[in-house]
Amino acid sequence: MNPPIYLDHHSTTPLDARVLDAMLPWLREDFGNPANRSHAWGRRAWSAVEDAREQVAAAIGARPSEIVFTSGATESNAIALQGLARTRPGAHLLTTAIEHRSVLDTCRRLEREGWALTLLPVDRDGLVDPQRLAAALRPDTLLVSVMAANNEIGTVQPLAEIAPAVRAAGALLHVDATQAIGRVALDVQALDIDALALSAHKIHGPKGCGMLYLRSRPRRVEPLPLMEGGGQERGLRPGTLNVPGIVGLAAACTIAVAEREAESARLRGLRDRLWARLAAGMAGLRLHGHPTQRLPGNLNVGIPGVEADALLLALDGIAVSAGAACASGSARPSHVLQAIGAAEPGQVRAALRFGLGRGNTEAEIDAAGDAVVHAVARLRAST
Ligand SMILES: Cc1ncc(COP(=O)(O)O)c(C=O)c1O
Repeated sequence: MNPPIYLDHHSTTPLDARVLDAMLPWLREDFGNPANRSHAWGRRAWSAVEDAREQVAAAIGARPSEIVFTSGATESNAIALQGLARTRPGAHLLTTAIEHRSVLDTCRRLEREGWALTLLPVDRDGLVDPQRLAAALRPDTLLVSVMAANNEIGTVQPLAEIAPAVRAAGALLHVDATQAIGRVALDVQALDIDALALSAHKIHGPKGCGMLYLRSRPRRVEPLPLMEGGGQERGLRPGTLNVPGIVGLAAACTIAVAEREAESARLRGLRDRLWARLAAGMAGLRLHGHPTQRLPGNLNVGIPGVEADALLLALDGIAVSAGAACASGSARPSHVLQAIGAAEPGQVRAALRFGLGRGNTEAEIDAAGDAVVHAVARLRAST
């Protein structure tokens, strides 16, 4: 049994103690409904939500009025994609082959319902080519959705080159920034982004809370609401607000952005150390994703000669994500690994995703690296 080590921060992250402290009063004595300002409880809750809105806006260079609180990135992506698509039935939508399922499956459903869809391929490192994207834009393109950073292979997209092409075509740019916030610089003004989604629990905030940024100036980005209700969040996301979650999201965003540079440098160091340890300990290790334009805490590797399931079992106690990186065998490779051509048939190969985060130490990285090396050696020897 290995010592417990959590290296799956792309999946979710532990709540930061500072975030929990900020949330606790809103779970205990300050339980008011911000929609009811006729008494002090409601007024305090309203004011906490509006403070949180300012903090979240400041974290991405937006105006407070441009922030819509949601239950997380899945919902934010749905409101942006479905809500905007419905403003122009039959229009053209463009996204990439490696988006999160909340984007891909939403776009596919819209395609079945009559919208035109282009799924842009990526290169072997998982990068979108801005010129190729520009060439795929059409006069009827309404919306382009590109993730800022990929949740499996960590590749960071060149948004600064993509945004001008989208703008020139008169289309809107939606960015799924769920994995990127607090890890790469994100400013919606500087990058000319029209809509942006994120989730609190990916940055040491609470689960079940996120937000959608919608540009208000100089052009107003206005999706149609997906639900009807009490008119909260400008009617775009009706329903009683999750005050503790919203306060937690704001605290998590503020901390993540304030600590981004120092923490990114630390994580990059740990990640490179892990790669070096793995590469020294086994033959045939392959890097998935871009060698440099990638999330600082992300390492995704292909390990030939072992099955993903067996490797996960052998790594009991170490939390990582494993998937197949081959088109044979029982496990199917992910759409991301397929899109970067890392899933050739005929070869048994496990893909291991390490997601490093705030609590991880050098000692943990070394222990996890050694555990993987030993497990791979044992599994290879047994086949
Ligand atoms: C890139 C990306 N987008 C969207 C989501 C969805 O986030 P949530 O499940 O919090 O709604 C995730 C979560 O894995 C993600 O990694």
